Amino acid sequence: MEHHKLKTIKVKDLKIGMYVITNLSWYEHPFLKNQFLIKSRTDIEKIKALGIKEIQIDQARSEKAAGTGLTEDPPGPEREEKRDARGIIPEALISAIHDDRMHPREKALIVQKQSFIMMKNLFANPSAENIRKAKTGISEIVNLILEDDATLLYLLNITEHDYYTYTHSVDVGILGVALAKSLFKESGNHDIHALGAGFFLHDLGKVYIDKNIINKPGKLTDEEMNEMRRHPTAGFKLLFDTNQLTDESKIIVLQHHERIDGTGYPKKLRGSEIHIYGRICAIADVFDALTTDRPYRQKMNPFDALKLMRDEMIHHFQKDLFERFVLLFIAPVR
Ligand SMILES: [Fe+2]
Ligand SMILES: [Fe+2]
Repeated sequence: MEHHKLKTIKVKDLKIGMYVITNLSWYEHPFLKNQFLIKSRTDIEKIKALGIKEIQIDQARSEKAAGTGLTEDPPGPEREEKRDARGIIPEALISAIHDDRMHPREKALIVQKQSFIMMKNLFANPSAENIRKAKTGISEIVNLILEDDATLLYLLNITEHDYYTYTHSVDVGILGVALAKSLFKESGNHDIHALGAGFFLHDLGKVYIDKNIINKPGKLTDEEMNEMRRHPTAGFKLLFDTNQLTDESKIIVLQHHERIDGTGYPKKLRGSEIHIYGRICAIADVFDALTTDRPYRQKMNPFDALKLMRDEMIHHFQKDLFERFVLLFIAPVR
């Protein structure tokens, strides 16, 4: 049996070569695993940025060299500047996207997780500057989706996670861009980067909705539902006031809960009154909600979710768009 020798130390005393064990949830820290070997100064800086004072290390698994300082690189001013320019965008997101040797599966997992952290950062402070930064991060993800079919296949098939507004935002972002790619890539008449920003930020208006309503583990009362239904207009207004995104992005935020048969909100638009970008987002949004665990119901597998959408909800969606969406899961994206 493996023997652990756990010890709690101050974060400021961390050294390269130490094996740390975090007690945080997966989504509270930027690392791929909860236990790992510290390989660089950057790792230590990331742990410091979490704002915790103490951390556990496993002495048995820490390298003998830990503490000698032989492998440490100085924190140089260049690195500081780079992080500042990126702000809410995790460095690991950008480096994974541009790592040509990384396996698509690993790339997809890192992109998924780091995008989640970016969205979490943005929701914590949706300032004009952060929206602008998020836009550049989303742009990198859109390029990846447009150019790397192998990674996209893995991205479309990551279903193992709980529901948070942030994971949902990332999922709808990826699904929406994948559908837009399949519809528009040939024509060149659509700005898929602007669409991507709209899909990733479609629920940004939820920052204004009471947390107790967002996280309520059960059906909402009529009054709570009315409050919840403010989020498309609230998000649109936020994007209007901060003025960082194009009209394509804003219309997605405003119209993603409109339904073809006029039963949606906020304006009960029908058919072609709803912009095609809003119609695309509606499909991605409902699919992701159905395929994720919620406190009040279990997730469906993608096949069952698509079947339910076809058999019972098809009047909510534009049929040929929905059919293209189904193809994403049957045929590899081209
Ligand atoms: Fe929404
Ligand atoms: Fe949504």
